[in-house]
Amino acid sequence: MIGVQVRVEIVPSRSRDLGALVLVREVVVTHVQQVAQVVRDRCVVHTGHERLVQGRCVDRRHETRAQPEDLGRPRGDLAFEQVSFAYQPNEPVLREVSTRIPAGTVCALVGPSGAGKSTFANLVPRFYEVVEGRVTVDGHDVRALRLADLRRNIAVVSQEPVLFNDTIFNNLQLGRPDATRAEVEQAARDAFAHDFIQGLPQGYETMVGERGALLSGGQKQRIALARAFLRNAPILILDEATSALDSDSEAAIQAALKKLMVGKTVLIIAHRFSTIRDASLILVFDQGRIVASGTHAQLYAGNPLYRSLYDRQQGGS
Ligand SMILES: Nc1ncnc2c1ncn2[C@@H]1O[C@H](COP(=O)(O)OP(=O)(O)OP(=O)(O)O)[C@@H](O)[C@H]1O
Ligand SMILES: [Mg+2]
Repeated sequence: MIGVQVRVEIVPSRSRDLGALVLVREVVVTHVQQVAQVVRDRCVVHTGHERLVQGRCVDRRHETRAQPEDLGRPRGDLAFEQVSFAYQPNEPVLREVSTRIPAGTVCALVGPSGAGKSTFANLVPRFYEVVEGRVTVDGHDVRALRLADLRRNIAVVSQEPVLFNDTIFNNLQLGRPDATRAEVEQAARDAFAHDFIQGLPQGYETMVGERGALLSGGQKQRIALARAFLRNAPILILDEATSALDSDSEAAIQAALKKLMVGKTVLIIAHRFSTIRDASLILVFDQGRIVASGTHAQLYAGNPLYRSLYDRQQGGS
């Protein structure tokens, strides 16, 4: 056992400044995805004095085993076994969820807002700890792995990509800090971001502003995708943007996504049924449970909830 224990609680953010302070620490010590999580949920990590002093230990709080198992580069088989989860005591968000997602599967998560889709996906990179049951990658309980090993093998593209007030190049390189200039530019090309970056006043050296304020939503998304290309992880988690993008960005992002997903195990929380229809497996969530699974054709024929979600979207929303 590692002796350092840092209590971490998720609380609503009241202080923007304190949140920023914690974020800065996170950037230094951990992966961008963890920061993304912190920002997306408008959470700050426990703000006690010891927390700030021991900020560097944020990852080590997870090292629950003295000898972590070796993951290497996983194939990307995912399994949830009787997983329950709650953010607050007695308010279950996932209830005894069990499912297998074989390597190479494009798996879409659908269901009403608040059903638990993002929470489910966030348990794979272990942004949160399960309350009961276990989540496995290639048969390894995620708690038995070194957090850095686990997360190196997962790329997360979230609804609101996190950008830091730094150059485009440095923002991109967060996808894989040891990437070369050529690799960063190739990833930007793959994400259809290279051309717009070249068109900026200082190209890759352009500062993006506070939280990427100088970029459009579609441009930020493409930066996030370029990071995922750089990381080239076998497991990909996409929490699709719901916000309307300009049509140029939209087309470019769809094309980039298609390319990015090839050969990966993909969890995609999709709001567009055009994406969902193509998934090899669809999991339907409702009130913290997986209530149905299958292909589009199977679910449309056999699951009233899926059918109504689909029809509502086709009706335009
Ligand atoms: N960080 C958090 N702290 C406390 N409760 C949370 C947190 N994140 C989500 N919840 C709650 O957990 C439940 C499931 O949320 P989740 O974000 O997983 O749903 P979702 O299916 O992804 O919904 P949406 O389609 O709106 O994105 C909701 O009731 C939500 O309010
Ligand atoms: Mg969600």
